[in-house]
Amino acid sequence: MDEEYDVIVLGTGLKECILSGLLSVDGLKVLHMDRNDYYGGESASLNLIQLWKRFRGADTPPASLGSSRDYNVDMIPKFMMANGVLVRVLIHTDVTKYLSFKAVDGGFVYNKQKVHKVPATDMEALKSPLMGIFEKRRARKFFIYVQDYNESDPKTHEGLDLTRVTTKELIAKYGLDDNTIDFIGHALALHRDDRYLNEPAIDTVKRMKLYAESLARFQGGSPYIYPLYGLGELPQAFARLSAVYGGTYMLNKPECKVEFDDGGKVIGVTSEGETAKCKKVVCDPSYLPGKVRKVGKVARAIAIMSHPIPNTIDSHSVQVILPQKQLGRKSDMYLFCCSYSHNVAPKGKFIAFVSTEAETDNPQVELKPGIDLLGPVDEIFFENYDRYEPVNEPSLDNCFISASYDATTHFESTVTDVLNMYTMITGKNLDLSVDLSAASAAEE
Ligand SMILES: *[C@@H]1O[C@H](CO)[C@@H](O)[C@H](O)[C@H]1NC(C)=O
Repeated sequence: MDEEYDVIVLGTGLKECILSGLLSVDGLKVLHMDRNDYYGGESASLNLIQLWKRFRGADTPPASLGSSRDYNVDMIPKFMMANGVLVRVLIHTDVTKYLSFKAVDGGFVYNKQKVHKVPATDMEALKSPLMGIFEKRRARKFFIYVQDYNESDPKTHEGLDLTRVTTKELIAKYGLDDNTIDFIGHALALHRDDRYLNEPAIDTVKRMKLYAESLARFQGGSPYIYPLYGLGELPQAFARLSAVYGGTYMLNKPECKVEFDDGGKVIGVTSEGETAKCKKVVCDPSYLPGKVRKVGKVARAIAIMSHPIPNTIDSHSVQVILPQKQLGRKSDMYLFCCSYSHNVAPKGKFIAFVSTEAETDNPQVELKPGIDLLGPVDEIFFENYDRYEPVNEPSLDNCFISASYDATTHFESTVTDVLNMYTMITGKNLDLSVDLSAASAAEE
């Protein structure tokens, strides 16, 4: 291997595959390797036999669960906002042509021990049992302010500079109570903790607008979409894109040792005694364990069920957010459910996930409030995984390492990480001002 690559990408997780796709489209010479013999890394989708191998050792799954290949169980389950950044990336790169999407039935929030549909518009807010009658009127005014807010039109700002006013101050102006603030912040704006309350309100307002605009793309339901056959389709779609633009893919490459010069700059990657030269390396944390630090741990349960999650209006695909405050925790908990209607399970079966950032040494107990909402399960698996973040200085070593996937069941933080990496690698911002109305291919 005498030729030099611009970039060698290690690991075929979703983040790495999006990057190799984007970089190949930019004309960079990309080599993409994975130590596994399958695509997806941590973000692969498993069939039933793979699932049993991973969680139950050599056991074979019970026949009552149906055919193994009818299952596509995401190891990193996440929905995408219909108007969100990932969808923009898919449209920008035309990767939508390799995938089929379907709307997600419902977005719900846990409030006072009950599961409620998330109201996202002023009309929905008026009908929601989440608020009393006077609170509804106040909330409606606030939703209308957010709907009408236009960054470049000061007339819509009502005299407030949202880059200075905090979310807490903006919400106080509308007199909303803590309960309302809780579901707005966590279920609409998708904040993961309560820091947003003391940060400039512009971010929360933009997040609420994204939620409402995503919701408006479909009739009712939720603001989310999800690919048929599961998220495992996504890394492969981006790998295909990269290949179309000349990217080279090699799976089942053992070792993948990153090589450095005396100054600590990356010079190549060695596998099976052969070194491929490169200027830059992009990888997940597992390929450069000396350049990352542990920042947390995700606890989760994966359940196979024969019914939808109770109290979600029989939704076949659904996200339920359990805000930290409702559980007396520091971080939110998430439920995710998909079924045969997205082709991830055989007819009559549902796959549910409960996930959160672990706060104790006993994550299984921590997950209980979420698991209790599932009702009876056919099978349940528990797993914890450590989250890592890079600690290197990419300008010095030319290594660009992604952060581990967090516990959220939506993509917003994942894509932010990818776009930041893209900017660090290329020195430019990705122009994502695509025409979403031309994106009917991303919808069903
Ligand atoms: C926002 O305001 C600008 C400036 O007045 C205007 O050109 C633009 O059309 C507005 N956008 C929307 C979505 O109303």
